[in-house]
Amino acid sequence: MTRKTLIAANWKMNKTIKETVSFINDFKNLIKKIKNVEIVICPPFTSLNESSKLLKSSNIRLGAQNIHYENKGAFTGEISPVMIKELAEYVVLGHSERRQYFNETNQLINKKIKAALKNKLKVILCIGETLQQRESNKTTDIIENQIKNCLKDINEMKNIAIAYEPIWAIGTGKTASPEQAEETHKFIRQLLKKLYNENISNNARIIYGGSVNEKNAKALLKMKNIDGALVGGASLEPETFSKICNV
Ligand code: PGA
Repeated sequence: MTRKTLIAANWKMNKTIKETVSFINDFKNLIKKIKNVEIVICPPFTSLNESSKLLKSSNIRLGAQNIHYENKGAFTGEISPVMIKELAEYVVLGHSERRQYFNETNQLINKKIKAALKNKLKVILCIGETLQQRESNKTTDIIENQIKNCLKDINEMKNIAIAYEPIWAIGTGKTASPEQAEETHKFIRQLLKKLYNENISNNARIIYGGSVNEKNAKALLKMKNIDGALVGGASLEPETFSKICNV
């Protein structure tokens, strides 16, 4: 079983093209020596084209933050998997901000994952519970429901990484403790074994997200079932993000 550590930057709605270029030029130098970690940067759509040129022949991968499930058509303002495939290798789907502000449901996310896989994009599927759900002991029910429905009729996990992001830890500075995160990651791995098989479960990458920074990353990544991180705020500065990638 070899699960390569995956550290992904989710820039959300941050950085102009100019700011992206400046980040990438600095960042490339800072992570030159890192070999054992897969690094992915997910900038806004508008920065993908320039980023793809700058990252060619580097060891940094590029990802989008969303796609539509259709390849083309009358969907004003949307971007299709075929369009993304020209520029990027990954796509983040199911992020809690998309669920919360853009009404994305598990059913819709399932359609998007299928469209991504069909177009040979790799998926980072985000799941996670709210504070209220955690406090009423519903975490595992919520996670199970999200995974079952988002992965419905998808029979392999090779190109899907799961990002466990407790909503109460996103952008709040409150991280799940390594033990708390590990407990849920372990639950997710057991669930994948039940839904698929031991091999798929052992090989699936389950990464953690929610206020990961250069101080807490090491302890989180040390846990047996934590295979990487999805980093928001702390991925916006090249120095800080390179330190997280250097664990
Ligand atoms: P954060 O965001 O690191 O700023 O908490 C993580 C995410 O939303 O993916």
